[in-house]
Amino acid sequence: MQSKQVDIVIGVKNVSKSFGDNHVLNDFTLDVFKGENIVVLGKSGSGKSVLIKCIIGLMKQDKGDINVLGKSVADLSSDELDQLRSKVGFLFQSNALYDSMTVRENLEFPLRRHGKSLSQSEMDMAVQQALESVGLAHTENMMPSELSGGMKKRIAIARTLILKPEIILYDEPTTGLDPITGKGISELILEIQRKFNTSSIIISHDMHCVKIVANRIVMLIDGECYKIGTYEELSHSDDQRIREFFD
Ligand SMILES: Nc1ncnc2c1ncn2[C@@H]1O[C@H](COP(=O)(O)OP(=O)(O)O)[C@@H](O)[C@H]1O
Ligand SMILES: [Mg+2]
Repeated sequence: MQSKQVDIVIGVKNVSKSFGDNHVLNDFTLDVFKGENIVVLGKSGSGKSVLIKCIIGLMKQDKGDINVLGKSVADLSSDELDQLRSKVGFLFQSNALYDSMTVRENLEFPLRRHGKSLSQSEMDMAVQQALESVGLAHTENMMPSELSGGMKKRIAIARTLILKPEIILYDEPTTGLDPITGKGISELILEIQRKFNTSSIIISHDMHCVKIVANRIVMLIDGECYKIGTYEELSHSDDQRIREFFD
């Protein structure tokens, strides 16, 4: 999977991003290969969310290039960006479900939003499949307020899956969940990768989640890609700045 011939689905090259004097990303570089789960590991406030917002075009870097599925994100028109976003699912830390909509309406929303001209029965089928993929069949008529934290996360993942994305970006998918529920979500992330051959960036500092989902881990320290390696490799590092995540 990590040989050089493999397709690069996300290429981040020498990206810098500052807010005034706050230099968040400094010459950050990373390639994500097709089919891999890559974890970006960094302390709170280290720029993990800023990085994925730049990747999805919600924010623009000051310097450097971000290429997603062959397109330079900063150069895209809003229509082109919309089109790209239908192939790149983004799971917000907050889930961002619509509280006034049922589960079904929440799942149908991206289909309508991206102008998929499906019949009602095709739409029903897509909703059922997405719910089954996250282990929550028969919840379509529930309201978000009736769901537990773990179920909300699963529905948010189902809403991402419904567009059959090539890439999924997960922002702290287990933060705020109890350890057992978090483990279930981590296993689901792995299952999705295997079943749909999606490529993902998972932002996390939950080491239980990282251990389950990561093919490779990128350490984001001082705005740079400080080190890349497998869990096994990094967990044996002597470097104190890496060690503190694993101890
Ligand atoms: N829109 C913004 N305006 C100003 N500063 C921001 C903005 N978004 C993020 N930052 C700053 O960038 C830094 C990194 O934030 P973030 O990427 O959210 O961190 P995390 O690694 O916890 O996800 C923080 O210091 C944050 O205050
Ligand atoms: Mg964040």
